[in-house]
Amino acid sequence: MTPPAAPGTAAPRPRPAPAPVRWWRRPWILPLALFSLTFLLYAVPPYLSLDPADARLPVPQTPSWYFPVLVTHIFGGALLTLLVILQVWPWLRSRYPAVHRWSGRAYVLAGIPLVGVPALLIAPFSGTGFGTQVSNTVWAVLWLAFTVLGFAMARRRRFADHREWMLRSFALIYGIAFNRVVLVLLIPLALLGVDPEVPAEDPMALAPVVAAPSSFLSWIVPLLFVEWWIKYRGPRRRRPAAA
Ligand code: HEM
Repeated sequence: MTPPAAPGTAAPRPRPAPAPVRWWRRPWILPLALFSLTFLLYAVPPYLSLDPADARLPVPQTPSWYFPVLVTHIFGGALLTLLVILQVWPWLRSRYPAVHRWSGRAYVLAGIPLVGVPALLIAPFSGTGFGTQVSNTVWAVLWLAFTVLGFAMARRRRFADHREWMLRSFALIYGIAFNRVVLVLLIPLALLGVDPEVPAEDPMALAPVVAAPSSFLSWIVPLLFVEWWIKYRGPRRRRPAAA
């Protein structure tokens, strides 16, 4: 109960009700971790046999190094998907900043040689067409650029910039998992438009139709989401003076 005001003094102002917690500030880390783990459990096992016949995508015969580089990329990508969860978890970042620093170094120093460079090497050989080759190449170049910039900003102690570049890098890492969501949405649309002679139950028959649009959407949509967040909801927006 608010105490009565002393004679001659103004009554204390009632405290404003706390602002409702927005959905993006709620504990989203758990759904994100579950989504990541589900994706890894689905995407990685076919490559554990190290047999190109088990791959989920058409593996070109040449160059001969394509498959080993793809497998390196996938195992490195699995590590990075797990590290991103640690990097964006606010509780861990504030409670154990040393863990954030070390897992961040691992993200950059393992990610560039094991994920980014291999992605760039295999991108021009994608068996699903020219559109996918262009999309994958741009995606790999942007990831490498954002990650190097994020690392450089941390070294210069420009932490607001570091945070923004790393968020862009994380958005692109999630492109591959988001690709599965995009495919689930695009395949029914593609089924409406494909040649009726093409057997609808054969997913590879749809590859030429959905591969390029799904590849572009997979990384552009998460990147646009992060750009929106940085511009309208990020710390610079909330605390311009602190930034
Ligand atoms: C910036 C991040 C990434 C880029 C630029 C990238 C790029 C690529 C490229 C170019 C391919 C070959 C696709 C083709 O030939 O059509 C590929 C395949 C693949 N990547 Fe990545 N990737 C990234 C992140 C990841 C991550 C984090 C994982 C997690 C495990 C991953 C897992 C895979 C898998 C499983 C494949 C095989 C095809 C499939 O099953 O979808 N990638 N990626």
